[in-house]
Amino acid sequence: MSDRTMTRQVLLFISVLSLSSVHGQVSYSIPEEMAKGSLVGNIAQDLGLDIKRLKSGKAHIYTGDSAEYIELNKERGVLLIKERIDREALCRQTTPCALHLQIILENPMEFYSITIELTDVNDNSPIFEKSEMKYEIGESALTGTRIVLERAIDDDVGVNGLHSYSLKPSDNFILKTQHLPDGGKNVEMVLQKALDREKQEHIYLTLTAVDGGEPQLSGTMQIIITVLDANDNAPVCSQAVYKASVLENATKGTVLTTVTAFDADQGSYGTVTYHVPKSGAAQLFEIGKEDGVVKLNLNVDYERTKHYQIDVQARDQGGNTDSCKVIIDVIDINDNKPSINIMSKTNSISEDAKPGTVVTMMNIQDPDSDGNGKVHCSIEDNIPFVMRSTSNNFYSLVTDSDLDRERDSEYNISVTCSDEGVPSLSSSVTLTLHISDVNDNAPVFERSSYEAYIIENNTPGLSIFTVKARDADWNQNARVSYILEDSSVNGVPVSSYVSVSADSGVIHAVRSFDYEQIKDFQFRVKAQDGGSPPLSSNVTVKIMIQDQNDNAPQVLYPVQTSSSLVAEMVPRSADVGYLVTKVVAVDVDSGQNAWLSYKLQKVTDRALFEVGLQNGEIRTIRQVNDKDAVKQRLTVVVEDNGQPSRSATVNVNVAVADSFPEVLSEFTDFTHDKEYNDNLTFYLVLALAVVSFLFITCLVVIISVKIYRWRQSRILYHSNLPVIPYYPPRYADTLGTGTLQHVYNYEVCRTTDSRKSDCQFARPCSQNVLIMDPSSTGTMQRMQSEKNILDEPDSPIEH
Ligand SMILES: *[C@@H]1O[C@H](CO)[C@@H](O)[C@H](O)[C@H]1NC(C)=O
Ligand SMILES: *[C@@H]1O[C@H](CO)[C@@H](O)[C@H](O)[C@H]1NC(C)=O
Ligand SMILES: *[C@@H]1O[C@H](CO)[C@@H](O)[C@H](O)[C@H]1NC(C)=O
Repeated sequence: MSDRTMTRQVLLFISVLSLSSVHGQVSYSIPEEMAKGSLVGNIAQDLGLDIKRLKSGKAHIYTGDSAEYIELNKERGVLLIKERIDREALCRQTTPCALHLQIILENPMEFYSITIELTDVNDNSPIFEKSEMKYEIGESALTGTRIVLERAIDDDVGVNGLHSYSLKPSDNFILKTQHLPDGGKNVEMVLQKALDREKQEHIYLTLTAVDGGEPQLSGTMQIIITVLDANDNAPVCSQAVYKASVLENATKGTVLTTVTAFDADQGSYGTVTYHVPKSGAAQLFEIGKEDGVVKLNLNVDYERTKHYQIDVQARDQGGNTDSCKVIIDVIDINDNKPSINIMSKTNSISEDAKPGTVVTMMNIQDPDSDGNGKVHCSIEDNIPFVMRSTSNNFYSLVTDSDLDRERDSEYNISVTCSDEGVPSLSSSVTLTLHISDVNDNAPVFERSSYEAYIIENNTPGLSIFTVKARDADWNQNARVSYILEDSSVNGVPVSSYVSVSADSGVIHAVRSFDYEQIKDFQFRVKAQDGGSPPLSSNVTVKIMIQDQNDNAPQVLYPVQTSSSLVAEMVPRSADVGYLVTKVVAVDVDSGQNAWLSYKLQKVTDRALFEVGLQNGEIRTIRQVNDKDAVKQRLTVVVEDNGQPSRSATVNVNVAVADSFPEVLSEFTDFTHDKEYNDNLTFYLVLALAVVSFLFITCLVVIISVKIYRWRQSRILYHSNLPVIPYYPPRYADTLGTGTLQHVYNYEVCRTTDSRKSDCQFARPCSQNVLIMDPSSTGTMQRMQSEKNILDEPDSPIEH
């Protein structure tokens, strides 16, 4: 467009020169943008034309096609601005810029060329096409990086044209302009300092272009630089070390701590994930990949590991990492019982072990910590043992006082060990300890003394009874043997009386006993155990022999002979109840067996006599009359009270007469062998004298002996002569009681050995004693015959 206009102006100029007569040429120079009606030039004056001529010539301006910026004021002969002229619109950047116009006059036809040069006025600011430009630059961009900027345009020319650029702020970039061959300027922004998105993500710059006019005009453009992120920041843990603690009994999933790391980068470069190595102790824990929460994954055991250290890696998606430590302390829980380990142990201890003897050694372990692992051991109170803590965790069980197997043969000692945890845990073990025996107990008889009875005439070898001793010890120490202790009974070793079975303690009679010889005896039995050395004790055993009715009564008076005859005289004038005689009998048995009763067995005619049942007195029971025979023969049966009873009979001859010759006539048959009887009478008298002497002597001796040996006196009365029988009053008195069992109304007094002494002792208490000799029947028979001889001189009546 501009080219075409130029061409037209040029053509116009040529036509003025060639087609008409050119009278003059005027140039004006005006600034652009003059207000409408402003004066351009006084054309009339400048061309030398008269106003009238202008009018007459109908002067007008010829501009061709171009717009009419200029008008001709014919009145004043001046050129005025008809329309505002914009140089830039008219000429662009072409300089100089001129308007060419012709003033044409008619009558005559004349034309004048007028050139109006338009001078530039700084009426245009530099202008950027866009008010804002956006760029993205990676923060990793190197310094020196160039960014070509859009140029500004200033339509003004020359000095009013674009002059320079400036960029603000200029922290990171500087502006560089480059002159181009076309005269233009290339504007570049050069990075001179590295960008950091993390510091400034968006950079706002203002590019200002200024022209050279006066006043200076400018145009600006906003440059927005977005700094693109680069993974230039590694994650950073907020703490280098995280500390956490966990109870030993914590369950899976317990949150321990949270690891946080920060990455200044953006997006994936700033997204941190957390990782732990999947090996070693770290297996026990898991970490939230995104949130960094550390949780327990398995169970921890304080006793195995007290501390854990895990390395957590914080990683961004660009591969930058940081690592931090998590230290986890396991807090102990009292989850372990103390364990008791027996180090050495005695199963059995002797009962004579001294106090302080070590029975068992043990070691106590509790893997817990502090109080949870502090253990105390104890045992029951009431046993003779104590626990001693020898050194750390070592205990010994020792005896505390004396032991006695017989009191407690076995102990179950329960050792309880408990720790100091809350709640406390404990464990216990039971030790069985046997107390072994020591022979410390002698056998003990069941009774302090024994008494046993045996009926006389026993068979030898009869077991009498059993002694029993117990021994509190054990086994061999308690095996009791019974031993008969040596002693003598009546000068005979006791072993000839009894024997003791060593094993069973059964006492056997060795011989047959005779109550009439020995009534009781005693001996000692020793019980001895099998210990080493053995212990023993002894006991007194008293054997009492019980009477058997093995002796028949013996009649002492009247003395019986088969041939001779003794008769009692009863005067015919005798009153009723006249005591004829008294039958005296003894029984060497005792008690009932010696309790005698008397009965008449055969009574002639009408009964003239009776015999006292108990006393054996024969008395008349009626007056004697003439019919009664002179010669009466009574048979008295003496019977003891034994079971079965034994008896003896005695014949008593009674002569009922007033005079001795009468009797003699009845008893003539009694006389014979007179010389013999004379001799016998002499001996009898002699014997009586000797006996009387001995009797008195013995009486003196026994009184003196009795002072010393009251109880022991056992007197054997061994006599060759009968003693006048004496009937003891007590004998009859006891009848009423019926119990004579232990009341011995008489004793047989004899020395222990009849062969050694003939001495007869009559005891001072002899009013209760009947002295007799059961074995002297022969003597008595002899005596009876002597009596017969004595009687003989009185008996010729019979002849
Ligand atoms: C762990 O032990 C403590 C103390 O003994 C107790 O209070 C707590 O209840 C226990 N926790 C579990 C999960 O058993
Ligand atoms: C000791 O324990 C054993 C076995 O449990 C038992 O047979 C015995 O009677 C106990 N002894 C004592 C003295 O308690
Ligand atoms: C019998 O035992 C008593 C104590 O009971 C004792 O004094 C005595 O010496 C013992 N006798 C013998 C022979 O052992």
